[in-house]
Amino acid sequence: MLRRLYHDQPASFAFTPANQAWAEAQIAKYPEGRQASAIIPLLWRAQEQEGWLTRAAIEHVSAMLDLAFIRGLEVASFYFMFQLQPVGSVAHIQICGTLSCMICGAEDLVAVCRDKIADQAHALSEDGKFSWEEVECLGSCANAPMAQIGKDYYEDLTAARLSEIIDELAAGRVPTPGPQNGRFAAEPLKGLTSLKDNDSGRYQYNASVQLATDIGDTVKRIDGTEVPLLTPWISKGAKSAPAKKAAKSTAKTAAKNAPKPAAKAPADKTGVTKQQAQATSAAKPAVGAATEKKPRTLDAPRKAGADDLKRISGVGPKLEGTLNEMGFWHFDQIAKWGAGEIAWVDSRLKFKGRIERDEWVAQATKLAAEK
Ligand code: FES
Repeated sequence: MLRRLYHDQPASFAFTPANQAWAEAQIAKYPEGRQASAIIPLLWRAQEQEGWLTRAAIEHVSAMLDLAFIRGLEVASFYFMFQLQPVGSVAHIQICGTLSCMICGAEDLVAVCRDKIADQAHALSEDGKFSWEEVECLGSCANAPMAQIGKDYYEDLTAARLSEIIDELAAGRVPTPGPQNGRFAAEPLKGLTSLKDNDSGRYQYNASVQLATDIGDTVKRIDGTEVPLLTPWISKGAKSAPAKKAAKSTAKTAAKNAPKPAAKAPADKTGVTKQQAQATSAAKPAVGAATEKKPRTLDAPRKAGADDLKRISGVGPKLEGTLNEMGFWHFDQIAKWGAGEIAWVDSRLKFKGRIERDEWVAQATKLAAEK
């Protein structure tokens, strides 16, 4: 499927204060230098807040993680969980159309969507409340046919039940997710044939459905004011406090629990520990093949003033600040970098490989000569 940014984009994006605090808490889960790993939850949160993923949101999240926009766009355009165009204000329904679901009646579910929502996938219903699409296997084949609505699965569907679900959503109710035919989970349709003594009968719902029901925000847009769904070590002790307070304490707890550099491994002034620098150079053969050599640095720019390092393609204001912090202020400094110096600087940048990819040394040499 062709996945492109929508033609009509809002000018800007910002997380709500509570979602911003939530996002910062997610980032704090990862070790220094690995914050980019938070991209999926942050993009998902942005989508839940806005309903769909705008270009501005992808830019915002990429900037938060110190990633180039193209890296964020690669992730957003790869996974169909991310909606790159406006979707229904109440729900976007994703019908699995792969083998098991197709055999068990996915085409009938698609027919319901065409009839009740819009004839074409990704088109909004007349009232703007719903949209739909057909997607690839969602991994719930034992409960085919099924659909994902919001972040929950509605399984063992029939055309009639999906039609009812759409009506319930339109009326402002949130239908209970999970199997819709009375099954507890993915046990045989005719009932258990083994492990009959397990205690599942004591529960009304399976764990996924129970959690979704407890949270109660199945298809609702979220703004961060909900009791957050967090990893257990972060939510430990968290109470249903007012949103701001909860988010603040969450961020604080997450920061407190975030992995710390090992003892006796002091971070240098760029914040990179010795272990990280070693790990980076070991993991990156192209640059790491060269032994790191610290380039000559300056404590401050020369009297004539610093060069505008942003003139080097690939260096933005943030990277210029990082370079200045390391002691690089002039084109001729960068022009003198050899393989060892490039390896040294590269190991201290969060986004690796950009020095060689964007040919900073060649660019700086040219700019220095023009002065
Ligand atoms: S085929 Fe539909 S969930 Fe796998």
